Amino acid sequence: MCGIVGYTGKRDAKEIILNGLYRLEYRGYDSAGISLYNQQTKRYELYKDAGRVDHLARIVEDVPYSNSGIGHTRWATHGKVNQLNAHPHMSKNNRFTIVHNGVIENYKNLRDTYLQDHRFSSETDTEVIVALIDYFSHTMPVKEAITTTLKRLQGSYALLILDQEEPSKMYAAKHKSPLLIGRGKDDYVVASDLMAMVGVCDAFIALEDETFVVIEAQKIILYNLDHQPQSLQFQTLDYTDELADKGAHPHYMIKEIMEQPIIIRRILEKYFSEEKLALDPALIKEIKASERIYILAAGTSMHAGYVAKTMIETIVRMPVEVHIASEFAYHPPVLSKKPFFMLISQSGETADLVACLKKIKALNAKTCTVTNVKTSTLAREADFTLEIYAGPEIAVASTKAYTAQIAVLVLLAYALSGKETWDIRYEYSKLSQAMESFLEHYEEMHQITKQTFTKFHAFYIGRGVDYYVGLEAALKLKEISYIHTEGYAAGELKHGTIALIEDQTPVIALITTKEVALNTRSNLHEVASRGANTLTIVTESLKEVGDTVVLPDVHPYLTPILTVLPTQLFAYYAALERGLDIDKPRNLAKSVTVE
Ligand code: AGP
Ligand code: GLU
Repeated sequence: MCGIVGYTGKRDAKEIILNGLYRLEYRGYDSAGISLYNQQTKRYELYKDAGRVDHLARIVEDVPYSNSGIGHTRWATHGKVNQLNAHPHMSKNNRFTIVHNGVIENYKNLRDTYLQDHRFSSETDTEVIVALIDYFSHTMPVKEAITTTLKRLQGSYALLILDQEEPSKMYAAKHKSPLLIGRGKDDYVVASDLMAMVGVCDAFIALEDETFVVIEAQKIILYNLDHQPQSLQFQTLDYTDELADKGAHPHYMIKEIMEQPIIIRRILEKYFSEEKLALDPALIKEIKASERIYILAAGTSMHAGYVAKTMIETIVRMPVEVHIASEFAYHPPVLSKKPFFMLISQSGETADLVACLKKIKALNAKTCTVTNVKTSTLAREADFTLEIYAGPEIAVASTKAYTAQIAVLVLLAYALSGKETWDIRYEYSKLSQAMESFLEHYEEMHQITKQTFTKFHAFYIGRGVDYYVGLEAALKLKEISYIHTEGYAAGELKHGTIALIEDQTPVIALITTKEVALNTRSNLHEVASRGANTLTIVTESLKEVGDTVVLPDVHPYLTPILTVLPTQLFAYYAALERGLDIDKPRNLAKSVTVE
């Protein structure tokens, strides 16, 4: 979901667009391109290639002043990483130019229905969009050609569109992928992220889904897809240095929650090369030579370990045990004769794990650290390291490290199984889009939180991997809102703990696995009949009337990464409503370097 930046006004479009793309580099990408209006030829000229923004900047170094243009950093979902597939893309007669963030799931159907005779120059879904706009423009005005196209798209998009026949106009549209409009003195920036407009704009608006914008000569009109003008409510864009560090978020925790979709793509970029999963073959060999994997971790990292256990056992059919690090250090189980140890630790400094490592080394067993800090003690001491590339995690409550750990460990499971890797790229990209699309509903999660978490107790219940995600959901809520919360196996609650259910005790059921969905729903009825305030977090294909949060369906192995998102937001907003110190909760440290 990388980066889009457009500019129209009187200032230097190339400089503003390139700076904006540099600001979006943290989102990860593989190609970059730009289209700039040439005052001499009176046309937009296009420049693009695989590679970094630096490479693009060198390509356009001598391009003269331009007052308007669009730029893009691509994270490939359809079509290889090469110059042809880089954005911008043009319609066959070079009339329309487009950049796109997102995934069009019905692009083949659209191509076969409307564009059978069209010769495409790229393998991307994006080129189908611009070809369709051109197709409709032969029988209707451009604005209508664009909205007629948008109404036929299924999937996610943030688009900028240029028309060589009306070069003073810039069109923007979005659905599920983020797109914001920034207003300057007498000019506009359109971008995927606020960061691209810092220092250029003093106000901004985050576009809603199914909206469409026409910018011309410093006039901007917002429409719905039926061409009805909508009101534009700009917000002040005030940026202090600290805010810049938090990326316009009030707390590191919410910034890190919002970063998660980008980190999923970054992990793929780091672990793939030439379309192949590139994990250390020596690590794969060592694990395959072992008989049993032991995952050692603490807190949130241990909860990621439980999810990883489910996925590794499902994908690789290899036994995995998860142990609390502080317990394993002094009360190890009877070990397999050929053990392999995975130490999961965001900080790589957790003392309980360092203690474990000393014991394991005495066994001459092989070890791998899964960590966010490659220079940490655990990374240095272990035989292997799998980095999670989540970027510095500042908030004490771990969020992005949890989802990154799972994402990396599912890749490891795929590598151990030797499955076809290409679809995993598509599945991770679809997951990233689904995460981003869900996270746009943060205000709805805030409202649910206000109405729900008003009691001293709270419970998350689930079965199988949903139980494991419930453990993490409970830890998040209690460690920053101080509400006593437990994650419980849905079928176990009735064996005693149900005694704690009182009137309006919140019980949230996680329901993402078809085989046990009805069982969990009946467990929820058991607590509802005792006065509980019951909520559900479900996947689209399992939803029923009245469900609280419905998440898009993604690959089953990746679903927990999506399921945890609403629970992270519940925890954040519960602490916010209580006026607590969200990034530094009482009694806690970011890295527990004492046993
Ligand atoms: C996570 O929200 C907690 N702050 C805590 O449980 C943390 O996950 C635990 O201390 C382990 O830390 P590590 O991943 O750095 O080893
Ligand atoms: N689906 C488009 C492509 O593969 C856009 C990907 C992106 O969001 O960068 O080119």
